[in-house]
Amino acid sequence: MLRNILFFFICCLSLQLNAQTGKPEKMNAFINGLMQKMTLEEKIGQLNLLTPGGGVATGAVVSSDVEAKIKKGNVGGLFGVIGADKIRVAQALAVKESRLHIPLIFGSDVIHGHKTTFPIPLGLSCSWDTLLIEKSARIAAIEGSADGLSWAFSPMVDIARDPRWGRIAEGSGEDPFLGSKIAKAMVRGYQGNDLVNKNSLMSCVKHFALYGAAEAGRDYNTVDMSRVKMYNDYLPPYKAAVEAGVGSVMSSFNVVDGIPATGNRWLLTDLLRNQWGFKGFVVSDYTSVNEMTAHGLGNLQTVSALSLHAGLDMDMVGEGFLSTLKKSLAEKKVTQKEIEDACRRILEAKYKLGLFDDPYRGIDAARASDILTPENRKAARDIAAHSFVLLKNDKQVLPLKKAGTIAVVGPLADSKRNMLGTWSVSGDWQKSVSVIEGIKNIAGNAAKINYAKGANISDEADFVKRVNTLGIEIDPEKRSPEEMIREAVAIAEQSDVVLAVVGEAADMSGESASRASIDIPESQQLLLKALVKTGKPVVLVLFNGRPLTLNWESKNIPAILDVWFGGTEAGNAVADVLFGNHNPSGKLTTSFPYSVGQVPVYYNHLNTGRPFHIGDGTKFKSDYLDIPNEPLYPFGYGLSYTSFSYSNMGLNKTSIQANEKLEIKATITNSGNYDGEETVQLYIQDLVGSIARPVKELKGFQKVFLKKGETKEITFRITTEDLKFYNKDLQHIFEPGAYKAFIGTDSEHTTELNFSVAGSE
Ligand code: BGC
Repeated sequence: MLRNILFFFICCLSLQLNAQTGKPEKMNAFINGLMQKMTLEEKIGQLNLLTPGGGVATGAVVSSDVEAKIKKGNVGGLFGVIGADKIRVAQALAVKESRLHIPLIFGSDVIHGHKTTFPIPLGLSCSWDTLLIEKSARIAAIEGSADGLSWAFSPMVDIARDPRWGRIAEGSGEDPFLGSKIAKAMVRGYQGNDLVNKNSLMSCVKHFALYGAAEAGRDYNTVDMSRVKMYNDYLPPYKAAVEAGVGSVMSSFNVVDGIPATGNRWLLTDLLRNQWGFKGFVVSDYTSVNEMTAHGLGNLQTVSALSLHAGLDMDMVGEGFLSTLKKSLAEKKVTQKEIEDACRRILEAKYKLGLFDDPYRGIDAARASDILTPENRKAARDIAAHSFVLLKNDKQVLPLKKAGTIAVVGPLADSKRNMLGTWSVSGDWQKSVSVIEGIKNIAGNAAKINYAKGANISDEADFVKRVNTLGIEIDPEKRSPEEMIREAVAIAEQSDVVLAVVGEAADMSGESASRASIDIPESQQLLLKALVKTGKPVVLVLFNGRPLTLNWESKNIPAILDVWFGGTEAGNAVADVLFGNHNPSGKLTTSFPYSVGQVPVYYNHLNTGRPFHIGDGTKFKSDYLDIPNEPLYPFGYGLSYTSFSYSNMGLNKTSIQANEKLEIKATITNSGNYDGEETVQLYIQDLVGSIARPVKELKGFQKVFLKKGETKEITFRITTEDLKFYNKDLQHIFEPGAYKAFIGTDSEHTTELNFSVAGSE
């Protein structure tokens, strides 16, 4: 025993002496030395990522015999192990009891915060504030690393234009330009200045690629799109993450050009490594290697070999690599080099994280106090308030006065369980602030607050069962719907204003949570109708992980505040905005359709040969008989309690050459009664191209804070670099000709300016 312990310490010491992070030559020498000692089984072991369960398992399988496999050197990393103590125990198995003492890498779905939960990513994106978004990822990295983690399965950068798809909640919406900025901000936030710092997490951009374009919005479904669309619209955010130095990439579940992404060599090697220069490692999604069998690509041995050859390095949960690669090598279906390259990339990641120096990196009793601190909660509250989007505010119903009697009604008003939103695996919902608590915190001393639940989130038993798979988010009452509504109407009638806190439960969006109807569930619509009938002013406080269809609501309810799922401090942030302590400034990053029949509806679409313009005769035009072409609420839209006026829009010149700068100016005035923040948006249209080009594309945005009455001039500077797109041969070029610039408060309300570009590449 003593000999074993001594041996362990000598090995650790020698690993530590060798593993001084820094120069690449040192890293290579260290890894070469280590790999010389490794058996084939140990090399394949590094490619194996397991989850012992306990966290949220998102597939049917949870790994078994994890302890024995770690000791045998059959495991490269774990995820779903939550808490520093558990991670320490698991790491000790690897570094004390496996032959070569190679540390494990510990990952987790740190998606929108770790213990301090921030708004769901779709909400975060609506802040259009890359500094705040980076800060949220930084805090998540500090907390996650203090909890023993080294690796965050985030950011999720899948462009999504179909609100039926539940995972639209996890991304940044429909636009590649904004999505790319956010991808970079998040990678910077997680990884910090250097991965070796003990408060950094290696980031993992996902789901590579095109996962957000699943047909019919059904999760895991087929994706099929042209290369031109891929390159121009869907790939930029992944590429941006690579440019920001992301350490790892997760392959997606879907097919790309008919081949599942996990086994797609064009995607994982030609594009990712050869064209984009990615140097990190690629991990599969949960059992996505095995799932290639159901896609029809062959048995486990075949699909595992296909995936390794494609450029996949690590196999999540499915153990296809572990159980078949040795045989495939003997049968010459894979090469020794392919196994070694994958193993090397994973060891490099561990080296860069400093795990060979300190396998317990970040775990330190003193750092427990880094988690869920008052400062982190304060940041979460501020960031949440920035994510809310004011969709409607007739007659300035909002902000509310902290006076009189306020009825707070709705199944999400007193529901801590639903504040964090989907994918908050480490967040503790019991520590979240509900809306009613937030309202009492802010106005409880000055106003009388009456509460009634009013309705269940849904009354449909089968639906409720599905949504509650991961925990009770919808908790139907024994009382009849009529009785609940009666009670709510009674308190509404005695109040000056009614806050209707309604919408989706947290897991009505997220993974495996597609919806064919994206209405507010019927039980709550009945409640809303009854509340409106009282004649009292109603404010709809909407919880949602996706755009919802809000036709009736937008016509009949005077004020609508979209609060997504705000995280730990959701309730306080909602109250901050309702009572005017924070003036809302969020802008939609995803279009809200009139009806699912309009899906996909997004602002940066191509023109048809028969475009429809309002006022045109409608026959033989590209339109609908029953609804407009435009969405109900467009991309970039969001109101403030104040108003902003735009003037003096102009260009410094009307024509530019390659690499010349065009300046586009506008003067913005806060013309209302509150201090506030505006997001000024710049869109461009390329009027004549070698391929059809979008009607407009976001090319810049600036957030400007203006005191009441204040005026500022803002300038956008663009060059021909910003006008580049991928042409039919997938060359990234700009083309000469006529362009339009649009400046405005959202994608539909803009002022147009004309310019031209002379010359070409
Ligand atoms: C999801 C990923 C996630 C992984 C690990 C999968 O089902 O698609 O986003 O990172 O599970 O939990």
